[in-house]
Amino acid sequence: MKEILKGHIIHAPALGELNITENGYMVLEDGVIAGIYDQLPAEHGDGVLHDYGDKLILQSFADMHLHAPQYPMLGMGMDLPLLDWLSTYTFPTEARFADPVYAREIYARLARELITNGTTRVCMFSSLHTDATLVLMEELEKAGVTGYVGKVNMDRNGAEGILQETTAESVAETERWLAACHFKDLKPILTPRFTPSCTNELMAELGKLKEKYGLYVQSHLSESHAEIAWVRELHPDCERYWETYDKYGLWDDHTVMAHCVHSDAVERRAMAEHNVLAVHCGDSNINISSGVCPVRQLLNEGVWVALGSDIAGGAQLPMYRVITTTIRASKVRQIMDNWQTPFLTVPEGYYLGTTAGHKYFGAGDGFSTGDALHAIVVDDSTFPTPARPLTVNERFERAIYLMEQRNIAAVWSAGRCVVQQ
Ligand code: GUN
Ligand code: FE
Repeated sequence: MKEILKGHIIHAPALGELNITENGYMVLEDGVIAGIYDQLPAEHGDGVLHDYGDKLILQSFADMHLHAPQYPMLGMGMDLPLLDWLSTYTFPTEARFADPVYAREIYARLARELITNGTTRVCMFSSLHTDATLVLMEELEKAGVTGYVGKVNMDRNGAEGILQETTAESVAETERWLAACHFKDLKPILTPRFTPSCTNELMAELGKLKEKYGLYVQSHLSESHAEIAWVRELHPDCERYWETYDKYGLWDDHTVMAHCVHSDAVERRAMAEHNVLAVHCGDSNINISSGVCPVRQLLNEGVWVALGSDIAGGAQLPMYRVITTTIRASKVRQIMDNWQTPFLTVPEGYYLGTTAGHKYFGAGDGFSTGDALHAIVVDDSTFPTPARPLTVNERFERAIYLMEQRNIAAVWSAGRCVVQQ
C-alpha cells in the first residue's frame, strides 16, 4: 500500500545536522520510506494522503534505557544517592511485579504513556520476574512500542526473600523467558542488573547464554563513585568496571551500558573499540547526584552515545524532556569544565534522542529510504503566539523545548500510524 505524509519534514541524518523539507511529501510503500520530496512526483499521485498541513513531522524518539517496574515510583526517593535509593525504594517496588495482574495494570499504562509521548523504540529493563516480563512485552506490542526488553538477572545484593534469585533460578528462568518470546517487533536482551547484583557464576552463565542464543546485553556502568568503589571490592582482579563484564564475554558489539558518567579514558576507549552503546541519562544522573556525564568528550572520542529516560532515577518519561535536560546538563558540564567543552545544541540533542538510538535497531541516518517509518507529528499551534513569524527551524527548536503530549497529533511506529489524536 502506498501512503503519503505531507507537512514540514525535519530529521537529523548526522550529529548536529538538521535536514528540513518545508511543505514536503514523504512517500511510504507498505510503511517503508520510499523518498522525501519538495513536490509530489506524478507517479506517486495515487497514494493515500495524510495531509498534516502546517504541522511538523519529526522522527520519533528512542528511549535506550529505562526500568518499566519503576514507573509506579516516578518522582520518589529523589533525595537519596543511588545505592540507598535502590534498597529503600526500588527493590520493594520491583518486588510487586511478582504479581502478573498488578504488572498488567501498570504496564498497560506505561505502554500507553510511552507511545502517546512519541517513544516508539525502547531498550528496557523489566524486573527479575519472567511472567511479568512477558506481560510487559505483550502490552508494549499492543501499544505499538518496539525494541528490546530484558528480564533482569540478580542473584546477590538484592532484597532477600522479595527480590533476589538463586543462580540456578536466574539461569532457568532466563531460558524459560527466552523460549516464550514470540513477538514481532520486540526482542529479548540479556540483562544482568549491574555487577554488584550478579555473582561471577551467574555472569559466566549469562556469557554462555549470549553465545548460545546470539543475544545482545544491557547493564549499568560507572554511574556513581560509591558503586564503582563497590565493584572494585567485588572484583579486585579488575582494574576498571568494564572489565567485570568483559571477563565473561558480555562486553561486545551492541552491548548497552547505561550512564558511563565516571568512565576514564581507558574505559571510554574500550567502548569505542567494541562499539558499545553508552546511554546518557542526564535527568537520572542529576536527580540521584551521580554526576554530570562528559557527553561531548565521549562523542569526540568516537563513543556511540544515545539517550535514556532511566525512569525512575529519571523522573521524566517523555523523551522531548530528556533531550532538553540533556542539553541543560551539557551546559552545566561546560561550566564545570571552565568553558572548555562546547554544550550540546538542539539539533545535537535531537540526533541523540532519535537517530543515535534508532541505529541500534538497524535504522539508517534520519528518515532513511528503506526504513520502516518511526515518526511523530507535532501541532505547535497552541504554543504562545510569537512576536514575529517563525522559520520552520525556529518552530522545530521551540517544539523540542515546549511540546507536551497534547501537541503530538500522530505517532507512526514501524510503518504504522498507532496514535491519531
Ligand atoms: N544500577 C543498578 N540498578 C539500577 C537502577 O535500577 N537504576 C539506576 N539508575 N542504576 C542502577
Ligand atoms: Fe538504570
